[in-house]
Amino acid sequence: MRILAIETSCDETSASVVQENLTGGIDVCSIIIATSLKLHASTGGIIPERAARAQIEYIIPVIDKALTESGFDKTEIDAIAVTHGPGLIGSLLVGIEAARTLSFLWQKPLIKVNHLLGHLYANFIAAQVPQFPAIGLVVSGGHTDLIYMKSHNQIKYLGGTRDDAAGEAFDKTARLLGLGYPGGPMISKASKEIVEKGTQLKYFPRPMRESGDYDFSFSGLKTAVLREVKANSKFTKNEMAAQIQEAIVDVLVYKADKACIEYMPKSFLLAGGVAANERLRDKINQKISKSVKIYIPPVNLCTDNAAYIGACAYYHPEIIDWTDLTPNPELTIV
Ligand code: KG4
Ligand code: ZN
Repeated sequence: MRILAIETSCDETSASVVQENLTGGIDVCSIIIATSLKLHASTGGIIPERAARAQIEYIIPVIDKALTESGFDKTEIDAIAVTHGPGLIGSLLVGIEAARTLSFLWQKPLIKVNHLLGHLYANFIAAQVPQFPAIGLVVSGGHTDLIYMKSHNQIKYLGGTRDDAAGEAFDKTARLLGLGYPGGPMISKASKEIVEKGTQLKYFPRPMRESGDYDFSFSGLKTAVLREVKANSKFTKNEMAAQIQEAIVDVLVYKADKACIEYMPKSFLLAGGVAANERLRDKINQKISKSVKIYIPPVNLCTDNAAYIGACAYYHPEIIDWTDLTPNPELTIV
């Protein structure tokens, strides 16, 4: 099966052609990502209206390029997949309208994909696919979710953030430090030297670490950082960045490890934009039990792209008539 996938849930416009490989995993034939990041860097965050306008400009060239680079033409595509939520409504609509139109014109089945579940399927773009049961942790700009997957379709929600998402905590605290947008990569870069020095990084509180459940809370960190900044902190900007990063990473790794101890899965899957964070990747590899096989996508497949949407569509072929597809901005992972 060969799928043309489209992803426009936030500020990226992406199209990708994927197909199954001989080992049951997914191969990427082409992946094109256009981003309006620079547009948002000037405003310190995403303005939904501007993101959607840029996506309207990008969507046709991006799909066209993805097809051309894949080496396949439309007659060789078996289905069209598209993100239907969660995300910004204007942005979701751009991808959905493009997918609906192509499904109608080309007479191809249309598959709707949950963006959050999709992130985890970046781990199936591999020669050796993860085995079930699996624990999955999705850490993105808008969501932090921990799930137990008995199979592709048997998914139990374990917990998630009660307020800000992990990525949001990076973005908001980076803004307080004046590091720019998006905050995650900026904080990661600013922290690098401090982390390498082996500095003690226990300054900020770890909310809900010992709560006994699988929920998270990151909004308190923002307040603690604000207080520290206003009080003329003894820390340098880089030290602050490293302290912030450690507070976020520490709780994520602690709860991921706790879930692996309780559920004893065969695989642990990390995904979402924050999974690009080097410290988080290292700590997950260090802390999670060696009896669990750890999957972390390559950095370029962590942040939003259509390849994992295509991969998820392959394992969850939820076919929908083009007349019935509408965006679902509030969609949850299960
Ligand atoms: O999954 P994603 O690309 O978009 C959403 O679905 O939200 O995630 C974007 C988030 C942003 O908050 C960004 O700051 C964060 O991922 N991020 C990182 C890193 N790269 C991206 N956070 C920490 N360290 C990084 N290296
Ligand atoms: Zn995402």
